[in-house]
Amino acid sequence: MQARGQWGSQLAFILAAAGSAIGLGNIWRFPIEVGRNGGAAFVLVYLVCVFLVGLPIMLGEFTLGRTTQKNVMGAFLVLKPHSPWLIIGVLGLLSGFVILSYYSVVAGWTMGYFIKTLQGTFVQVSSGEATKKLFTSFIQDGPTVIGLHLGFMALCLLVVIGGVQKGIERWCKILMPLLFGLLLLLVIRAVTLPHATKGLAFYLKPDFSRVTGKTILAAMGQAFFSLSLGMGAMITYGSYLSKKENLFRSALWVCLTDTLVAFLAGLAIFPALFSVGGIEPQAGAGLIFIVLPTLFNHIPLGQAFGAAFFLLLVIAALTSAISLLEVCVAYFIDDLGWQRKKAVVFVALIAFFLGIPSALSFGGAHWATRGIGGKGILDFLDLIFGHFALTLGGLLISLFIAYALGMPKALKELCLETSCPSWLRFFWTWALRVICPVSILILFIHLILTA
Ligand code: TRP
Repeated sequence: MQARGQWGSQLAFILAAAGSAIGLGNIWRFPIEVGRNGGAAFVLVYLVCVFLVGLPIMLGEFTLGRTTQKNVMGAFLVLKPHSPWLIIGVLGLLSGFVILSYYSVVAGWTMGYFIKTLQGTFVQVSSGEATKKLFTSFIQDGPTVIGLHLGFMALCLLVVIGGVQKGIERWCKILMPLLFGLLLLLVIRAVTLPHATKGLAFYLKPDFSRVTGKTILAAMGQAFFSLSLGMGAMITYGSYLSKKENLFRSALWVCLTDTLVAFLAGLAIFPALFSVGGIEPQAGAGLIFIVLPTLFNHIPLGQAFGAAFFLLLVIAALTSAISLLEVCVAYFIDDLGWQRKKAVVFVALIAFFLGIPSALSFGGAHWATRGIGGKGILDFLDLIFGHFALTLGGLLISLFIAYALGMPKALKELCLETSCPSWLRFFWTWALRVICPVSILILFIHLILTA
């Protein structure tokens, strides 16, 4: 047996876990959801979801990881061998492979756009229509998209092959501060643009009339995906923690930074949007790929800011994708006794091939575009694994801790080194016993009904 990795410090752990959480979900999806669902009113609902449901489950995942010092499968093999709870492990591994496969495709797009901005591709393109055409023909270009997908996967492989401290930790320590700096720079640029206040008003003015049941569900789903919950990513990262670390403080920091970055991304995007004008804030998925290149043509030093923005996305995606890769890699190392190198190459290769249909699902190949049930392959996989499986995983994890493992045991691990205040014990217990399962169940039923 090889020695298992361990984080070098609590800060390193927080940066790595925040790196996993902060991803395309924050910069690309969060602002869209805010724009659609009532601005600041949505932000408030989202905060409640993060702290009432996300935080307790994250604490749960950290606890499971640290108690067992195992991956998502191994943790349940240790705690309840030969029980139906192993399904959480199976689901986690499967989601790891699949989410990584299509996440890498979208991350590849961002890499492509980073290269395009550096090359000055957008300089002559000034209308929104033209950038839209550019984007559509770009994602239809199968070989290019697959090539970028391969390139991104190779980056992930290079980081994760270095192991916990020399790979993941080292890169997160460099990339996360860089991400934060770039984001601040972009926010400052955006809020000083002409007409920025209109965008700020749209983003921040609370419109409670738009908060409905649907809003709350959207906020819940977003919180889950954004915090990387429900598939054992946080179990795996928690398993590299020493018994000294304060789990609550770490989880709180991860939730806070994740939310802060999502919020800042909106501050960078909406003022920019309204400053160019003529673009619907509800534009949806293509928002950042269509709207922003147009904008970067209109502002001084636009090209440099454009490159900075897409670099920001690549970094955010990279620190998330490595956590997805590590979930699967840790299983092969812990439970099958593989060498890290072999495990990383194996998982990355499978995820690469698995990602090819997603890469072709916007026009590269007819069967992939047509996809399943009228959805392209990428959207379909995102629905099943990025939404259903994570939600189900979160539900099962909260039920497992509250009712199979039992709160006394879980609390003992949470409060090992630091004595937990009684409100924390109370909050965590009832969050896992009642609040999380009930609210996730409602979300789950809604997902099924609207799918
Ligand atoms: N949290 C990431 C984002 O916001 C996505 C992600 C990375 C993820 N790892 C995960 C989601 C594990 C669920 C589970 O983009």
